[in-house]
Amino acid sequence: MTKRNRLRAILFLACASSLCMLPHSYAQASSSADLMPIPSVISWQGNEEKTCDQIKINWHGAHSPMLERASERLLHSLRLSSRSDKKQTTCSLEIRSKDDPAYLAIGERENYRLTIHQGKIVMNAGGPAGILHGFATLVQLAGSTPDSVSFRDVTISDAPRFRWRGLMIDVARHFMSVSALKRQIDAMDLTKLNVLHLHLSDGSAFRVESQLFPRLQTVSSHGQYYTQDEIRDLVAYAAERGIRVVPEFDVPGHALAVLEAYPQLAAQPLPAANAACTGGSACIAGSNANNPALDPTKPETLDFVEKLFVEMIHLFPDAYFHAGSDEVVASQWTGNPQIASYMKAHNYPDASALQGEFTAKIQAFLAGQGKTMIGWDEVLSAPVPQSVVADVWRSSKWINAATAKMHPTLVSSGYYLDLLRPAREYYQIDPYNLMASGLSGAELEHARQIHFRLADAFALDPSLPPLSARQKQYVLGGEAVLWTEAVSEQMLNQRVWPRAAVIAERLWSPETVTDVADMERRLPHVAAQLDRLALTTTQQDHEQMLSRYPAASKQALDTVLQVTSPVRNYTINRMIKKAGEGLLTWPVAMAEPDSFPAMRFNQLADAYAHGDHSVALELRRDLEKWSANDDQFEKTIGGVAALEMIRPVSQQLSALAQAGLEALDGTIDTARRTQIEKLLAQQQETFAASSWQLLSPPLPQPAGGLLIDIVPGVRTLVDSVSTVH
Ligand code: ACM
Repeated sequence: MTKRNRLRAILFLACASSLCMLPHSYAQASSSADLMPIPSVISWQGNEEKTCDQIKINWHGAHSPMLERASERLLHSLRLSSRSDKKQTTCSLEIRSKDDPAYLAIGERENYRLTIHQGKIVMNAGGPAGILHGFATLVQLAGSTPDSVSFRDVTISDAPRFRWRGLMIDVARHFMSVSALKRQIDAMDLTKLNVLHLHLSDGSAFRVESQLFPRLQTVSSHGQYYTQDEIRDLVAYAAERGIRVVPEFDVPGHALAVLEAYPQLAAQPLPAANAACTGGSACIAGSNANNPALDPTKPETLDFVEKLFVEMIHLFPDAYFHAGSDEVVASQWTGNPQIASYMKAHNYPDASALQGEFTAKIQAFLAGQGKTMIGWDEVLSAPVPQSVVADVWRSSKWINAATAKMHPTLVSSGYYLDLLRPAREYYQIDPYNLMASGLSGAELEHARQIHFRLADAFALDPSLPPLSARQKQYVLGGEAVLWTEAVSEQMLNQRVWPRAAVIAERLWSPETVTDVADMERRLPHVAAQLDRLALTTTQQDHEQMLSRYPAASKQALDTVLQVTSPVRNYTINRMIKKAGEGLLTWPVAMAEPDSFPAMRFNQLADAYAHGDHSVALELRRDLEKWSANDDQFEKTIGGVAALEMIRPVSQQLSALAQAGLEALDGTIDTARRTQIEKLLAQQQETFAASSWQLLSPPLPQPAGGLLIDIVPGVRTLVDSVSTVH
């Protein structure tokens, strides 16, 4: 069984009723059901459920064809039809709302109230966005049987904590098809995210058809780009679901793709292209595809960018336009004698000052086109007006700098999904926390020792006082961010979700909603629902990736994948630099950052250690399966290199499971305990090896990049028995 299949099976077995049969301490009264994000105010009225075979919708006040289509989707998601008249139990949904001139703009009214009483649903919404969010809540509230749904009586009053709740996807490093993006939009709709930020150009490719500069697609897209019609279709699809699409065209750095098409704009001669390039991040042999930059001193450069932006502005109606502005490598400019003399003549002391001039010109141009510019936090060193939105990414300390300068601020720092951290880590990052994400401790020391040029920009600043109430007003919200150096389209769903849902909750729900255990209780349900209603290819993507391996090895490999996760932080980016695109077919590409079977095992082990021995049977069943798996794995790997690579992981998984079984048997003697402690210490070191955000600690990396997620549970079980002397 695959991980997702297995997940469903667990849910079926353990959660056949709306309360999971988890041990008592974990089966909290379902005060938030499986809602994610949790509403601002929710009050359950008793436990009774009312079943509806049909829902009749009555609109009061403003509604549009767009909202009617949304209501059809609601009924479809609930597996109900509005037409059948043979059904017995008809529930009603009364919707009251007003028009909202700010719909799909930053001040739109997203609030709604829901009252459900014996199958009578009343929704009052501030505007269309509020109605769409109310529908998303209804989908999550509904308990479902094959032909009907049921609702418990409840009152909800809800509105978001932050107005900007984004998901950024880098479609430059790896292209993601329109249908893949529509699936993301559907999942965003269900979790109340409201901005899809597309990173459309970077060193490796330019992804939008340009009629003015067609070489951008003929030369620089590697055959994979969105036509202008496709962009219009995507933007309309998102708008129907209350989601704004904000484009990003990154200038003046990250410009290699543009420069391959128009080399006359380059600051430096371009590195040689890799003849075997298929559009991934390994396109430029032996050099960093991120580095090439535009020459900002040539009038043609500004002329090109302005004309391109006008063309792109016509495709993306949103009021905001992201112009990148990150990571210009100073030597691109200081190493060019003409640019160096321009800097001298204009008294620019360094590349950052020159970049400031360029950014200010771009900003003024965009403002003239009616657009508000967004830039990554490097814009804070440019002479730009307060209206420019700062997208904070290098360290949470820049939230302080941005809000102190009264820039509307987006928090992306801490929310980089490509760092492959588990959901609980993203969940614990508050957008106001200036100490949430950045270099510190041993990593910062190491960075300074090796003269890592970005050490200070990426460091935390413990001397900062917390954000003031005034500064907080400038935080618009944040974005979950997925860079795709090591993400193919087949991996997209599982690299974004369900983790983006916990960031969605962080950005929507009240600041006080911080219960990690409750989030982890809800997460598997939310993941299953997202797969069913939005991310419909997740299972098939996983099966297709598995099918690259010999059929005989599938089950044993999948058993390893169920309880492992990929190495964290930038480790996988270093792996793909060495291994090339082939890495995207390896087990590390299939393993997911959150293993639900491991999460459950670790929870049960905790319950067991706290004296609940009723869970021993399930623990034993899991441990026996994992313990026996290595024999099967060994028999079936058949010389396949990517499987040979993870042989040590399979062996360690079995050894850990064996230790867990011995702990359940209560038979650990002194000599054996020493062995087990060594095994656990080795696992701890394996986790430590990818625990630094940007750099690599001087430790050996785990085989094939896989971390074993049952380690905490095994540790708990082993600690719960005394040594037999
Ligand atoms: C970035 O990650 N370069 C914004």
